[in-house]
Amino acid sequence: MEIAKAQSLFDPVPGWLNTASYGLPPWPAWDALQQALADWRVGRVSWEEWGEATNRAREAFGRLVGASASDVTTGAQVSQLLSLVAGSLPDRSRLLVPDEEFTSNLFPWLVQSRRGVDVRAVPASELPARIDADTDVVAFSLVQSATGEVADVAAITAAADAVGALTVVDATQACGRFPVDASRVDALVCGAYKWLLAPRGTAFLVTTPPLRERLVPAQAGWWAGDDPHTSYYGPPLRLASDARRLDISPAWFSWVGTAPALELLEQVGVDEIGEHDVGLANRFRAGLGLPPGDSAIVSVDIPDAEVRLEAAGVRAAVRGGRLRASFHLYTTDADVDLALDALT
Ligand SMILES: Cc1ncc(COP(=O)(O)O)c(C=O)c1O
Repeated sequence: MEIAKAQSLFDPVPGWLNTASYGLPPWPAWDALQQALADWRVGRVSWEEWGEATNRAREAFGRLVGASASDVTTGAQVSQLLSLVAGSLPDRSRLLVPDEEFTSNLFPWLVQSRRGVDVRAVPASELPARIDADTDVVAFSLVQSATGEVADVAAITAAADAVGALTVVDATQACGRFPVDASRVDALVCGAYKWLLAPRGTAFLVTTPPLRERLVPAQAGWWAGDDPHTSYYGPPLRLASDARRLDISPAWFSWVGTAPALELLEQVGVDEIGEHDVGLANRFRAGLGLPPGDSAIVSVDIPDAEVRLEAAGVRAAVRGGRLRASFHLYTTDADVDLALDALT
């Protein structure tokens, strides 16, 4: 689908430059959600189809990151999914992380300190060079949330492979805006409510089968059962044999909105979306006199940026004292120029 056609499926109020905080839903996702809410209100339907949206989304996400659906776990949040990996690490594991990492990829590891798990934080750009024989796990974001900096995955995975360290990547600020290859790491986690245009409350974890063998399904309930619909009552434990064994039961309505959003992204193509997003980010950078970059997130220090943008009706974010503007499928040249007029 052409970008222009896809844009006709969104209804943003001009000036939304904050997809790094949350993405906007396309009409197919919004309509599916409204239908489910209307059905829920009056008890018109049973719930099974709402639950099935989880599996539609699992398959679409797998296709987006080159993973088999059988390696994709569905959950609610990044921190919730990472807690499964963190809780299963051996005592006294040693981790390396970027120092400005978003805390949903930090706290799950840090809370394991009572078991002697040690977390070392270094500047993101130094990550590949700081991986050494004392590193058991490297956990990092593919795109840094505060700055938009894109990690050098090839260098990080090469250094980690050389010492046999596990690689865990948070792709929340990456999936949906450029091709991501989950097979390059041991675990990939992604929250869907930003660049994947989903409602809050849905997230994915892709794991390799060898890593999964080491993970305790600590949050398992009926939905993680081999057949969820015969797993409502009673022992014995009977979990799915694939990544679904790590699922938690679904927040139905969030999943109903997630599946169509992912399917739309697939129809447009993440290569095309990435080109569009970075093109807009570079239009913004050029207007501010900055050289072009490779990210759809622009972090820049401009005095009073927040006040000036707010007065012009532009919604962006401030992170670490710097303006953070982000550009996605539904963003237009006019949105960028609105912000530039306010700032220059
Ligand atoms: C890189 C990154 N990971 C995760 C999250 C959200 O984490 P959670 O789903 O645990 O709330 C954000 C939100 O800003 C983020 O930027």
